[in-house]
Amino acid sequence: MDFNLTEEHLLIQQAAREFAENEAAPSAVDRDINAEFPHDLVKKMGELGFMGMMVSPEYDGSGLDTVSYVLAMIEISKVDASLGVIMSVNNSLVCYGLEEWGSDYQKEKYLKPLARGDKLGAFALSEPEAGSDATHQHTSAVKKGDRWIINGVKNWITNGINADYYLVFAQTDRVKRHKGITCFIVEKGTPGFTHGKKEDKLGIRSSDTCSLLFENCEVPEENILWEVGKGFNVAMNTLNGGRIGIAAQACGIAEASFSAAVKYSKTRKAFGTEISNLQAIQFKLADMSVNLEAAKLLTLKAAFLKDKHIDYIEAAATAKLYSSKVAVENSLEAIQIHGGYGYVREYLVERYLRDAKITEIYEGTSEIQRIVIAREILKHFE
Ligand code: CAA
Ligand code: FAD
Repeated sequence: MDFNLTEEHLLIQQAAREFAENEAAPSAVDRDINAEFPHDLVKKMGELGFMGMMVSPEYDGSGLDTVSYVLAMIEISKVDASLGVIMSVNNSLVCYGLEEWGSDYQKEKYLKPLARGDKLGAFALSEPEAGSDATHQHTSAVKKGDRWIINGVKNWITNGINADYYLVFAQTDRVKRHKGITCFIVEKGTPGFTHGKKEDKLGIRSSDTCSLLFENCEVPEENILWEVGKGFNVAMNTLNGGRIGIAAQACGIAEASFSAAVKYSKTRKAFGTEISNLQAIQFKLADMSVNLEAAKLLTLKAAFLKDKHIDYIEAAATAKLYSSKVAVENSLEAIQIHGGYGYVREYLVERYLRDAKITEIYEGTSEIQRIVIAREILKHFE
């Protein structure tokens, strides 16, 4: 087993680190406070090849592997987890689905500009009454000639306001339950398609989240992704990869928290010495380091399996479950090590905690990851 990253991996990691530290960091605090979408940074990420990292160059992507994507996601999320989620949705939810199941027409029209970062994508599965219980879709699509009429509401959609193209899941045959769900590509500006207000969130505030409203929204037959009735397969298989992206986002937050805690402990003095000399603080740092290392290894393992085309459902859910827990724990410990200073904006660690919490909720809550893992474990023992 070789734990060394390749020369190419190291270069990508370095490029992402430089972009994050030099370009994203200066505005991260203000964008969090003002809940401001990072238009210029997203454009720059497109130019640097971070918006379609795993898409083949044939479709204007960077043609890189999932390990590279994880390394870039960690570096970017270390500085700004909002940028991380914007990037992750475009890469692992939207571009992935289009490349895997899109027609030539869809790849040319939608995938190419998304992979270049010229356009932004969103993935709309959740609804007001169908989050974890994703098969329970209320949004419907009814065929009329060669067009489909979509009606319904999607909830909590990342990039919902700023996206150009949306993957929208709708029930096309209620009797067939999840086998009657279909995925549609919907363009911004399509009549009958609007969005709700921007949510005022606890964390990842620089990313936008909103509901999407469909009132007799007509889309052409050619905008069906894959086939009628295959939408739930698209959603589940896409989310397996998406969970690796969110695990990487969580690792980034956990690492930022750990670094901030180490640095602060070496400068803060109490009882005549730096607090890093106190064993109680050292034990916290040791636990944070061990947990971070384990989270990164699980995440890289899931990416490695995906790159090798080995079943990664359980590995992805495991990586997300564990890394999101570590992100929350490390950010809490970072605040503890900062004492009162950790509780105010100036020292950044309070943002890490606010950003960390969502990684235990979206792309399947921790409870859902446990369901996925348990089902896979039980299958292996059949
Ligand atoms: N990979 C592939 N297929 C899967 C799968 C997986 N991880 N999980 C379930 N499936 C398949 C099953 O094999 C089954 O297919 P068949 O009938 O063809 O065999 C089908 O999906 C239905 O599965 P179940 O019978 O197990 O359905 P269920 O209702 O009992 O459970 C669930 C399904 C796993 C809980 C699923 O609903 C789920 O994953 N829920 C969480 C939804 C989620 O993650 N939403 C994220 C929204 S996107 C987002 O959040 C983006 C963001 O924030 C940035
Ligand atoms: P519920 O499903 O109502 O869950 C409530 C609680 O019950 C949770 O603790 C859950 O774990 C638990 N629970 C539910 N079922 C079970 C069970 N069977 N066993 C044990 N516990 C259970 N969705 C998208 O489609 N696209 C996006 O881009 C997107 N972005 C998001 C961005 C943000 C900021 C947020 C907050 C959400 C986003 N989501 C998105 C939605 C997200 O995926 C859902 O919030 C999530 O899947 C949980 O669904 P829910 O909120 O309806 O909670």
